[in-house]
Amino acid sequence: MTRIVVLISGGGSNLQSLLDQCQTGSLDADIVAVISNRPDAFGLSRARQAGVKALTLDHTGYANRAAFDAALAELIEAQQPDLIVLAGFMRILTDDFVRRFPGKMINIHPSLLPRYPGLNTHQRALDAGDSQAGATVHFVTAELDGGPPIAQVEVPISDQDDAESLARKVLAQEHRLYPTVVDWFVKGRLRLDANQVLLDDQPLPKGGRLLDTASL
Ligand code: GAR
Repeated sequence: MTRIVVLISGGGSNLQSLLDQCQTGSLDADIVAVISNRPDAFGLSRARQAGVKALTLDHTGYANRAAFDAALAELIEAQQPDLIVLAGFMRILTDDFVRRFPGKMINIHPSLLPRYPGLNTHQRALDAGDSQAGATVHFVTAELDGGPPIAQVEVPISDQDDAESLARKVLAQEHRLYPTVVDWFVKGRLRLDANQVLLDDQPLPKGGRLLDTASL
């Protein structure tokens, strides 16, 4: 069975959706460990509740980014994962770290990349007057939120939306998008080949596959 390590920094609602899908069997994978860089991350309790190993590697205990990333890479490798899933893991990763897991690490980001990498994505979409917000799952490369996109969902922005309401709506779609993409990987349908994303051996368009929320 596919061994998954999930990295978190906070609430872990995306983690929860993956745990739920594994528990019901709709995702045929084994989440072997959850690792947080923050000791107080609520997602750690979610992991324990589901009987999954919950580990903390506190970044504040390391002299610099390289030292933390080296320790994190070792901790991940000790779990022997087939896939590393970043789910609200709010750390910039070093090139050396990312290069240790080529084609094996994915991230979810709350915007329609390449628009709005980094923080405050929803407020930035509102400020720009966008009609659509959304989320992207992408392979992780050394560029922040810049790796090749795998799939996106769009969420319409209404006149009444503020950053908070938009975050809620997008997060609800993330909970459906992420298990879908993880399922592709688990079934051996998804791979990264020289920076090109292949699904069922077919190259995906530049922004990844746009998923219809109704189909999720
Ligand atoms: C999610 O919206 C995720 O897309 C975002 O953090 C939130 C985590 O929520 N990730 C990023 O911004 C990464 N650049 P969760 O802890 O409830 O899953």
